[in-house]
Amino acid sequence: MCYPFFGMNEGRFDPLKKSGLFEEMSWKMKIYRAKDYEAMSVKAASLLFAQVMLEPRSVLGLATGSTPIGMYRCLVEWYRAGRLDFGDVTTINLDEYCGLAPDDPQSYASFMRENLFRHVNVKGEDVHIPNGLAKDAKAECARYDEIICRSGGIDMQVLGIGHNGHIGFNEPGDCFQKDTHCVALSDSTIAANRRFFERESDVPRRAYTVGIRTIMRARRVLVLASGLQKAAIVKEAFWGPVTPRVPASILQFHGDVTLLCDDEALSLV
Ligand code: PGA
Repeated sequence: MCYPFFGMNEGRFDPLKKSGLFEEMSWKMKIYRAKDYEAMSVKAASLLFAQVMLEPRSVLGLATGSTPIGMYRCLVEWYRAGRLDFGDVTTINLDEYCGLAPDDPQSYASFMRENLFRHVNVKGEDVHIPNGLAKDAKAECARYDEIICRSGGIDMQVLGIGHNGHIGFNEPGDCFQKDTHCVALSDSTIAANRRFFERESDVPRRAYTVGIRTIMRARRVLVLASGLQKAAIVKEAFWGPVTPRVPASILQFHGDVTLLCDDEALSLV
């Protein structure tokens, strides 16, 4: 375990040091290093395992993408071995493409079903994902925020990080968007997600995402990053300035963040 605010880039956070906020923030931000993707996945699953063991009624904020697939695989394995029970867990997914039905194979609802939900005993009514087919986007965002609010808030939020620093689909911009919103995906996100679709024109251009306030209100945040292609953004987000141009950088202000990376993703810090 090491601490991002000590040793490296000392001086950048001087104003915070003076205010005392520096110590308050820094000791809580944990970084765990894993030798490779598999090892990272086991560590990530272990943190979720502990969360659910200790608080069976946990509200888990879940992410899609390539990064958490290995973590879900471990959780399914441990569930099958009888070590884990999702019967009282509530899940709240970060995001969903606009225009895709829940049974569309490219939807995040399908992703979650295939990688986790259909293999474990989480109850259907306790699984929440924005409805990509909602007619009224504003009403859908309000409905989702209401669900999050009624759940009592997220106990552990799992996040991947986009090459451009996005978390959920909170894309780089001039300000942090607080609540669930419908977002125009950036060109770099469309290009990154192209690999999951037959043609680039099939990649949805818009998506629902929970807002930064929801993520920042999560009691614990677990950020996963794997591979050399994430090294630059990991450095920028956690060792650089806090700015809406790099949405993940806001996590430097969260009181309980764990950054869990493989060696390659930490290779620039
Ligand atoms: P990835 O996506 O896990 O597929 O790299 C991460 C993200 O875009 O949040």
